[in-house]
This record gives sequence, structure tokens and C-alpha cells, in this order.
Amino acid sequence: SLKPKRWSVAVIGSGVIGVSYYVYHKNRAKCDLDVDEVVDIGDTLSLQSLNQSIESENFNLRRIWLYLRSDSMYLLIAITSALIVAILNIEIPLSIGSVMDVLSRFANEENSSFWSNRFFVEMKGPAHRVFQLFVLQSLFTFAYISSLAVVGEKAASRIRSDLFASIIRLDTSFFDIQKSSEIISRLTNDVQEFKSSFKLFVPSMVFCGSFLGSYLRQMSKESQAQSAKASGVAGEAISNVRTVKAFAMEESQSIVYDRELMAAEELNIKLGLGIGVLQGLTNLGLNCIVLGTLVYGGKLLSSDEISAGNLMSFLVATQTIQKSLSQLSLMFGHFIRGTSAITRVFEYIDIKPTVVLNTGVILNKVVGEIEFRNVGFSYPTRSGHKVLKDFNLKLIPAKVTAICGHSGEGKSTIASLLERFYDIDYGSITLDGCDIKTLDPNWLRRHVIGFINQEPILFGTTVMENIRFGKPEATDEEVMSAARLANAHNFITDFPDGYQTIVGERGVTVSGGQKQRIAIARALIKNPNVLILDEATSALDTESEALVQEALEKVMKNRTVLVIAHRLSTIQNADMIAVISKGRLAEIGTHSQLIKEKGLYWNLIRQQFDASDD
Ligand SMILES: Nc1ncnc2c1ncn2[C@@H]1O[C@H](COP(=O)(O)OP(=O)(O)O)[C@@H](O)[C@H]1O
Ligand SMILES: [Mg+2]
Repeated sequence: SLKPKRWSVAVIGSGVIGVSYYVYHKNRAKCDLDVDEVVDIGDTLSLQSLNQSIESENFNLRRIWLYLRSDSMYLLIAITSALIVAILNIEIPLSIGSVMDVLSRFANEENSSFWSNRFFVEMKGPAHRVFQLFVLQSLFTFAYISSLAVVGEKAASRIRSDLFASIIRLDTSFFDIQKSSEIISRLTNDVQEFKSSFKLFVPSMVFCGSFLGSYLRQMSKESQAQSAKASGVAGEAISNVRTVKAFAMEESQSIVYDRELMAAEELNIKLGLGIGVLQGLTNLGLNCIVLGTLVYGGKLLSSDEISAGNLMSFLVATQTIQKSLSQLSLMFGHFIRGTSAITRVFEYIDIKPTVVLNTGVILNKVVGEIEFRNVGFSYPTRSGHKVLKDFNLKLIPAKVTAICGHSGEGKSTIASLLERFYDIDYGSITLDGCDIKTLDPNWLRRHVIGFINQEPILFGTTVMENIRFGKPEATDEEVMSAARLANAHNFITDFPDGYQTIVGERGVTVSGGQKQRIAIARALIKNPNVLILDEATSALDTESEALVQEALEKVMKNRTVLVIAHRLSTIQNADMIAVISKGRLAEIGTHSQLIKEKGLYWNLIRQQFDASDD
């Protein structure tokens, strides 16, 4: 029998002697392979400035557990199966040893009749046992892999669902900072990364969860952020390909992309090297064990202290352990990337919006009186630049109020503030006397305010669904009557598929005027009390403008309307015209009053008149 103590002494001793040669041959190939594995890190993304405030370094096991908890049955099956497989992996070589003993006995006999009856009789028992173990091992491997896959997929869906739900509710300013393609890659790539590391998660957690250097994880996070930045550049260029082409910027966009890509490559390679070193060292230790077994076992064999079968068992067993441990070291890489990816995902989930949907007051009846009182505002991304300073304006119910002023004076900002896309810095905005900060933003946007801007966005679905976007529960009849009001019904029914016509990703298949009228129908179907028209007709040619204007006149009746217009001819009939300058209300009155005053409005009119004269 073998004494464990002597074995371990021998293992360490002989390991040290045989190290260099053995490692040189075996590890070179292995390290190459591992580095390959590491370099193909999926493109993921960055979050930079926004959530520096969030402590992010430590991946939170309890947090991950929340996503696994409801499938703990599968997880239990997975862990149990994994343990059984591990035990079998040690059991199998031992049984193979007894097969080897039979073999070597017959091989050593002089009249070795290998295929004699006696051979089969003696072989039957051990072989049968080995076969049984093989079958068991494959069954439990199946149970292990498949139940982990179930847990992984379910957890990934839950994480994605949570992530999307929190992203889509975030403040508008978040989307001012983050490139949309980067946000999307966090939703896809980072969760994917976590999922693929998840298969290795259980063993990694069990064996080396605490072992990981935070240095490597930090490095991995950096490289993921950089990869994401690169895909952000690509995503932006591709989704705006027309603009890129119109400026013949293909080449320079490629250069920008290449630069980000190179930076990502450098980081990834650095990470790869780090993981490679870690794996190389692990392999070194493991290979020493195998070598030690060989050397010392060989000695014992030659002095007839153990049988060939015994040595065989130990060799296979050590090699099995070596193999699985070196796989484990390979898992380090996956594991590091998986945990840093999930950290990035949690970072997004953890950002809390300041405008919280579905909370706040809902008014029973809306009159539509809106007042801006001493409003001060600057965009969170440009806090030094005060867009509004002590801005005052009252919108009278059922009347049309127009705002004009030079471009960049903050006209659209006023509309955004009314929609509560941003919260003001000081002052107040009230609807029927209630501060809009106390109102439910969802209710405000869904039922009170209709917003039409210069460049309406249609979704890549049917005209019917696009209009219904304004009121999901609307019937087909309601959709059509909204379209009629918006002067859109006729041209829609002229489409080959009528209301079922798919409009392109950006409504490419419909003209600007048609698109605008579909957008008007969409805003109208909510029957809003307040209508905001932000340069609704400025992008249109004269003919479409007339059609859209006619539609707008109809829908403006009996609503509080805020018209923002660049072309002053369209607002002359407004009940009240306000001029904004330097962040303040500079003038207010009717067209004729303001003309008499010969102030800013008068100057604006003259400028436009001169321009159209040329
Ligand atoms: N999302 C934003 N983030 C930061 N600054 C912005 C943003 N939108 C507009 N601004 C700035 O706010 C000012 C007012 O813009 P805007 O309200 O769009 O002007 P107008 O509609 O009158 O042309 C401008 O200086 C503009 O650069
Ligand atoms: Mg504007």
C-alpha cells in the first residue's frame, strides 16, 4: 500500500527537478491557447463619468444570488452532479487500475493466451465496473451541464429584463451622456459575458472565488469599457450612415474607430497576458505533480513495491486532477470577465432616476393653465451654462401662446421642462396651480401633454401601430378618426396596404409632411389638454406646410397650445406672443402690440422679412 506522506514529499521533490523541461514543452502550447481565448472578449461598453459615484469594484454575490434564487432547485442539481462527476473522475482511474492489473498479469505470462476464456472471466468484473462508472459519469455530466444552462439562461433573461426596465426609465440626461449603442451593448454583450462565464461559475466560486486578484478584474473592466467605446463609435456611424456619407466621412470615421479599437486591443492583450501568467503558473504547479508521480511511481514500480496497475491508476488520477485544475485556471479568465461584466450591468441597474414614473398626484380635471415662475435651468451636462434665468410665462387655457427668439435661446428647453424631461434648478412650473414636480410624470405625458416636434420619429411598424403608440388601448376606429383630424387619413388609405403599411425604421418610406401628419395623429389620439408644437412645420416645404398647418389649426381648438416657431408668419394669429432673450421673457403681447413696440419682436420680423426679400 502507498503512504500518502511519502508520496507528497516525493511529489514536491521530484517536481522541482523536472520542472523546467516539462513545462517548457507543455505550457508553451497551453499559454498560446489561453491567450487566444482571452483576446476575443466581446465588445462591451463604458459608463465613464455618470456613475463614478457608485461603488462598483466588488461583484456582489448576494446580488447574483437574487437572480438565481428562484431556480435554486436546478442549481442544487448542478452542484450535486458536479460533485458526483468529480468523485467519479477519481473513481474511474482507480478502477482502470484493476483492469490494468489483469492486463499486465496476462501480458507477463509466458504462454500468454490473451483471448483465452480465463482472461475474459477475470476481465469481466473490472471492465464491467469501469463501464458502469463511464455511464454514470456521462449521465451526471449531462445533468450538470444542462441544469446549469437552464439556470444561466433564466438568470440572464431576468437580468436583461431588469436592466432594460431600469434603463428605459432613466432621466433624459442619462441619454444625453451615454451613446445608445453603448447602452445596448451593455444589455447584450455584458449579460452574454456573464452568462458564458456562468457555466464555470459554480466550480470557480467553489474553488477560487476568493483567489482572484482585484487587479485583473479592474483590468478586465477597463478593457470592456474600451471595447464598448469602440462599438459606440461604430454604432453611431452606422445608425447615422447618411450623414456620414453626405460629408464623405467614411475614411475619417474608420480612423476614429481604428483608434478606439487599437486602445481596446492593447487593454485586452494586457489582460490576456495577465491571465496567461496566472494560468501558466497554475499549470506549472500541476505539471510538477504529474511529473513527481511518474518519477517516484516509476521507482516504486522498479523495486516491485507497487503494481503496474497501481501506478497507472495514480497516473491517470493525477492527470485527471491536473486536467480539471488547469481547466479551472482557464476559468479564471472567464470568471474575471464574467464578474466584471456583471458589475457593469449592476452599475446601470443601480442608477436611480430623479424623475420617478408612476408616483405623484393625478388631477381629476385639467383646465390647462400653465405657469413658469422665476424658472432657472441649466442642463446637467453643461451646468455652467444657464439656459433660463428667472424665466416667467403664463399659458392661458384654450389659447395659443407662441414663443419666439433667436435659435439657442432656450425655446425647446421650455418644452422639455414642461414635459419634465429635466427638472428645473429653481422657480416653479405649475399646471392648474400644482407644481409639476408633484404630479405623476407618466400621467402628465400620457394624458395631459401632446408634443409634436420638428423631426418626428416613427417606429418600424405599421401606420396603425405608430398612431396607436399615443394610446395603446385605442380601437382601429379611434386611430382612423385621429388620422382624419390630422389630415392623414386620405394619404394613408392611398398606401397599398393602407393602415397596415410598414413605415421604415425612420419612416423613410413616407414624406416629411406625411410623417408629420402621422405624428400629429399620434399626439392627438391621447386627446391632450396641452399641445406643444416645437417648430412642427419648419422642416417642411411650402405645400406640405400648408397641409400640416391646416391639420394643426383643427387640433389646436380648445386646447392650451404652446407654439414654438422660427418662421414668424405662422404665429401672427397667436393669442399671445412671447419673446425670449438671454434666458428671460423679454417681451409679451399680441402681434399688433409687439409691432407697435418696435422692440425685439419687431426686429425679428424685420430680419426675416429682409431675408425673404433677398
Ligand atoms: N440636451 C442638452 N444638453 C446640453 N445642452 C443643451 C441640450 N439641449 C440644448 N442645449 C443647449 O441649451 C441652449 C438652448 O437650446 P434650445 O432650447 O434647443 O434652443 P432653441 O430651441 O431656442 O433653439 C443651447 O445653448 C443649447 O446648446
Ligand atoms: Mg429648438
